Amino acid sequence: MENSTLGRLFQKLWHGADYTYEQWLDSPDILADDLRLMKEAHCNVMSVGMFGWVLLEPEEGQYNFSWLDRLMDELAVHDIAAMLGTPSASPPVWLSKKYPETRRVNAQGQRQPHKVRQNFCYTSPIYREKVHNINRMLAERYQNHPALLLWHVSNEYGGYGGVQCHCDLCYSAFKEWLKARYTSLDALNHAWWTTFWGNRYSDWDQIEPVDEHGHGLMLDWKRFMSDQALEFYKAETGPLREITPNIPITTNFMRPDASLDYWRFAEHVDVISWDNYPLWHHGDDEAAAIETSFFHDLHRSYKQGLPFLMLESTPSVTNWQGVSRLKQPGMHKLSSLQAVAHGGNSVQYFQWRQSRGGWEKFHGAVITHLNTPDTRVFREVSDVGTTLEELSAIASSTNKAAVAMLYDLENGWALNNAQIPRSIGKQYQETCYAHYATFWRQGVTVDVVNGAADLSGYKLVIAPMLYMMQAGLAEQIEAFVQAGGVFVTTYLSGMVDETDLCFLNGYPPALRRTLGIYVEEIDALTDPQQGTITFREGNDLQVSGSYAFRQYAELIHLETAASVAEYASEFYAGSPAITVNAHGSGKAYFMAARTDKALLQDFYGAIIKSENLRRAIQPKLPSGVTAQVRENDKQRFVFLMNFTNEKKHVELGEDSFTDAETGSAVGQSIMLEGYGIRILEASINS
Ligand code: GAL
Repeated sequence: MENSTLGRLFQKLWHGADYTYEQWLDSPDILADDLRLMKEAHCNVMSVGMFGWVLLEPEEGQYNFSWLDRLMDELAVHDIAAMLGTPSASPPVWLSKKYPETRRVNAQGQRQPHKVRQNFCYTSPIYREKVHNINRMLAERYQNHPALLLWHVSNEYGGYGGVQCHCDLCYSAFKEWLKARYTSLDALNHAWWTTFWGNRYSDWDQIEPVDEHGHGLMLDWKRFMSDQALEFYKAETGPLREITPNIPITTNFMRPDASLDYWRFAEHVDVISWDNYPLWHHGDDEAAAIETSFFHDLHRSYKQGLPFLMLESTPSVTNWQGVSRLKQPGMHKLSSLQAVAHGGNSVQYFQWRQSRGGWEKFHGAVITHLNTPDTRVFREVSDVGTTLEELSAIASSTNKAAVAMLYDLENGWALNNAQIPRSIGKQYQETCYAHYATFWRQGVTVDVVNGAADLSGYKLVIAPMLYMMQAGLAEQIEAFVQAGGVFVTTYLSGMVDETDLCFLNGYPPALRRTLGIYVEEIDALTDPQQGTITFREGNDLQVSGSYAFRQYAELIHLETAASVAEYASEFYAGSPAITVNAHGSGKAYFMAARTDKALLQDFYGAIIKSENLRRAIQPKLPSGVTAQVRENDKQRFVFLMNFTNEKKHVELGEDSFTDAETGSAVGQSIMLEGYGIRILEASINS
């Protein structure tokens, strides 16, 4: 899609919510009330229609668009844009009953009843046809409607139990997918190493993706189901692309622990959006903030820095997270603008008006059952709306990163399945957050990328637990380092190829050359066992002292690398634990063991210094505080965010800033309230 088409979308920051007007059609006054309150809350966009299929098509082939016409018209009159939903996430009951093949089959072969939502089969031709029809009608009807800003396609593909369906249609599509990938059964049997436990296939029809022990099989099944969802998405967006080529399209992503490969989806959406539901006030808000920032950075990185939309967040609490605490004063604004700080151009909520009945009737909303704006939540929402209006210049700015964190979904799938000497608590995601944390604490921008990313623009690439090396990745990493980049990887890396077959002779050659080491054994420690690592005197990072390691410790041999730190305990005391290898104009570090926060902080702190990586502000930030930067040609915006409930004094250094909200000059230090945020602005001298 042309950037000019995205122009309207990126002109300002958006503020709004999911508005399920279809639940209130028998309350004639509610629309007028809601529109008035939306304006009062400084909302300029609403997501509508995602769950309205049965009201648009109450019986097969009988349509009623009058309620949606009225809603779209009124939104336009009130200068509120619509992110118009396509309704495939919730098929009408009549459809599921009349066409049972649209309903999923579980791994035990049982066809599921009509229930919840997002429970349809992605392969079913009749479902694709029905979705195609209703989407075509929506596109034809609203193509020139002034309220139409964006297509909100479906809702959270893969929500409610993933994407897996074991029906005959899916199995036969899987078979074709496998034939295209492997050509012959011999190649498949080799790739999946099926002679193990005598599981060789002699006919494509024998393949059933139900056995967790078949690692290659399960990996391909996940890839296939993700591809199938993407094919469904492409089919569902067909009429939208054809009839409204200038209206951008999004579909709301979730955290990528779901079953979809969003990197592949990203190529087919015009703007990335995601639904963000952190757990605040569960004991460690800094940890929750780091994790949330990580995912915002990931969503910005899916499209190489293009601003994303936070399409959902709760204005207060959820009703599905076990325990969801009220946001303490300040947290609503802080967590909403956290998305903007990391490259988001919208703050949107689920939901505008609380449902009266059904599963989500006690989920937080801007307008609750009390039916009044005279609430703390409404006031805080409205305050965020005012700020977003004031900060509209930020919409055209972006975040620039010199650091990339390689966080690869397929690697996570394979690693989670792997049976190793310590299979409990592998913690791939948590390890990535731990490595990311130092950068967050020092205000250094990080992109979160996958194994297919172009690494050449970065100064530092970090790849914790890179167990699976996709074809070409080791070579790309080598080229990155040879050209002057710094690469860091850890234990449990470089072990298998993309079909989950172990590499023979150690690492793939390009990685072995890059790291200058090879691994012989891995020691697994129980909890709470721990050992000690001591830095060598005069090491290239100039870090000194001893630190703890836990859980994983690899025993490695130096080839061309030098030892930076050594094990100081266990029978392998004296052998290398952290190494560095100069390769071409760059260097590659290897961390053989899982270490605590203290080591990661000092290790990455030294690299930030030696590589002169840009920090948002020069002085050290107090604990629990981060600073993130967005910039355009003229201005630099620094978001200072305090994720603790204590006041924090922040030194700003030499730069001269104004407060972006008030325009007043800011001195050389400021006080952040508990859960406080300040957005500072500086001009960029060209
Ligand atoms: C999202 C979903 C919304 C709503 C929300 C509740 O995952 O897309 O429709 O259910 O959760 O938090």
